[in-house]
Amino acid sequence: MNWFIRFLTSSIGQKILMSLTGIFLILFLTVHLIGNLQLLAGDGGESFNLYADFMGHNPLIQFISIGNFSFIFLHAILGLLLWRTNKAAKGSTYAVKATKSSSYSSRNMAWFGIIIFVFLVLHLSNFWFKAKWPGLVDPVMYGDVEVKNLYSLVEVKFSSLPYVIFYLVSMIVVGLHLSHGFQSAFQTLGLNHKKYTPFIKGLGTAYSILVPLGFAIIPLWMYAKYAFNL
Ligand code: HEM
Repeated sequence: MNWFIRFLTSSIGQKILMSLTGIFLILFLTVHLIGNLQLLAGDGGESFNLYADFMGHNPLIQFISIGNFSFIFLHAILGLLLWRTNKAAKGSTYAVKATKSSSYSSRNMAWFGIIIFVFLVLHLSNFWFKAKWPGLVDPVMYGDVEVKNLYSLVEVKFSSLPYVIFYLVSMIVVGLHLSHGFQSAFQTLGLNHKKYTPFIKGLGTAYSILVPLGFAIIPLWMYAKYAFNL
């Protein structure tokens, strides 16, 4: 047990946990985006509301959701700890060299993470909390099934231009965080290979552009629908 605690409190152990939780969150983001794209289905929110209701009641999804929140928390705490360790090591020649040759994204990972955390607090209080707390979202009927009308909640939020701009800026930050985080996670786990590394890098770049873009299209489209009566 001692070796396990030593591993978790060591810098390499923390980096490995950062990578594993990061990869889990990358998978979560993909599923979340696919689910949210149903907001654009043009069916008045029926498919999105039924999907959200299923996700909100399925026991396996509820279990994964607890893991999701724990991993977000762990990822954020470990990120801050590693940031502090790296700052403390800044005096060493190695750290100075690494800083000079590193990319804009890699140098600002902690700041991007902090901005994403602030985004998440607002995002969860506006959507997740309202979805979970009884009586805060109007119900809607599909046949004889009654579900919460989360679509209309999202629609109201994205009819505010400042809110839409806040989402767009946050998605740029998510993209920057992912552009370094994706390949860095695989590198930390030792999945470095002449043959596969360029593929992982390419996949990371594509992912960090396409996923935030997919998220950004939702508020943009919903605002356009509201502003131009589409
Ligand atoms: C246009 C963009 C987005 C929309 C419309 C959206 C919408 C929602 C909604 C409606 C919920 C509540 C669902 C429910 O609990 O029934 C939710 C939950 C959540 N969202 Fe988003 N989301 C967006 C982007 C993001 C992004 C970029 C992130 C992360 C960086 C994120 C992280 C989360 C998390 C962690 C939850 C809680 C999930 C859980 O219950 O495990 N969302 N989102």
